[in-house]
Amino acid sequence: MQKLIIQGKKELKGKISISGSKNATLPILAASILANRVHLKNVPLVKDIFTMAELLNFIGLKTKFIKKENSIKIINNEKNINTLAPYKLVKTMRAGVLVLGSLLTKYKKAKVSLPGGCAIGSRPVDLHLFALKKLGANIKIKDGYILAEAKKGLKGAIIRFPSISVGATENALLAAFKAKGKTILKNCAIEPEIKDLILFLKKLGARINIKGRMIVISGNKIKNTKIIHEVIFDRIELGTYMIASALLAKKSITINKIDPKIVKSEISILRKIGIQIIRKKTSIKIKRNKKLKKINVTTKPYPGFPTDLQAQLMVLLTQVNGISRIKEDIFENRFMHVSELKRMGAEIEIKNKTAIIKGPTKLTGAEVMATDLRASVSLVLAGLVAENRTIINRIYHLDRGYEFLENKLKRCKAVIKRIK
Ligand code: UD1
Repeated sequence: MQKLIIQGKKELKGKISISGSKNATLPILAASILANRVHLKNVPLVKDIFTMAELLNFIGLKTKFIKKENSIKIINNEKNINTLAPYKLVKTMRAGVLVLGSLLTKYKKAKVSLPGGCAIGSRPVDLHLFALKKLGANIKIKDGYILAEAKKGLKGAIIRFPSISVGATENALLAAFKAKGKTILKNCAIEPEIKDLILFLKKLGARINIKGRMIVISGNKIKNTKIIHEVIFDRIELGTYMIASALLAKKSITINKIDPKIVKSEISILRKIGIQIIRKKTSIKIKRNKKLKKINVTTKPYPGFPTDLQAQLMVLLTQVNGISRIKEDIFENRFMHVSELKRMGAEIEIKNKTAIIKGPTKLTGAEVMATDLRASVSLVLAGLVAENRTIINRIYHLDRGYEFLENKLKRCKAVIKRIK
């Protein structure tokens, strides 16, 4: 099994370019079932994307990565379509459940494995199914699979989500895409990745309007055309490197290929802590500040502070003066990184949904274990700021979502290597 070895306390300097968003690419790949030919650009070459492509191939589409230009071409020639998403693929990548909406729209039936829980929580899909039922789908659960059918096609409806879910909003959009009449989705997630999916669906012929947390879908005709789409940048990757810079860049690091307007809450929180950030149109400059202040943060759906940056922010808060608090309001079990950070010297206490972080503490290298994607990268950040050597096991979690992580960090003078 591969490991990462990091020699900590090295100053970071240089430039980092941000990759395309994994969480935007995944639903757009699911939406590609609705099209005939798609060329997606700015696609991150990470494990979850390869798994989604494998799922599309399994369904009967043809996918071809053009790795040197970070793009993928998808062709649906409607031959030998299999409306099934098997357990072996959905269990390794939960976003596989997003093909449900597209398959129902296009083929009026789908059999999709229930994804099951994961390290950060039970993660049910009841809200996905709630929306699909409201659109007229007949849904049964059998042998661990969702069996969905809409023989006469789906019908527009007014749907108010009882709580905000990214995946359920995406599945509802994919299912409402060709539903008869108008669909009004209320209390939706409005993450930038969802807006990117909507942009893609509009290229496919959708009429979609967003107002606050309400999305209205009406009168779509699927165009039989070739769609070219460039995926939005990965705001979580950006946030991760912003935190790395805040920890270790004495001189500023420039982070490119982004839109700072999309990460306002992250910039505002880092500035409150005392980090200096200069915003440009498509980049930011960011550097460490010796005097860092404590802060209280609660994770929220967009435009709030993302749960996907909670673990990384926690590492930064071990280095600020005073006691900070992070309340995790999205997932019930997303503090798995805490025990590993404590083994490196962090002083963190968990009370209900809140982590109480005492700073500044000296972190020292240790052998640690990654538990999920974002927890793994928080251990990388901790290793970069710790004294001595840190060894991170189970880094396949990192490979699910961070493109060229070691190379990007090495280019900024980090001492990090992968061993087999
Ligand atoms: C997406 C992101 C993930 C991010 C999360 C929250 C992708 C591929 N993944 O995951 O990185 O951490 O948004 O920003 O985009 N819930 C239910 N019932 C449902 C669906 C969700 O109770 O049917 C709950 C979840 O357990 C969780 C909360 O709603 O507590 C939010 O989850 P959701 O927004 O759906 O996250 P994902 O779409 O799975």
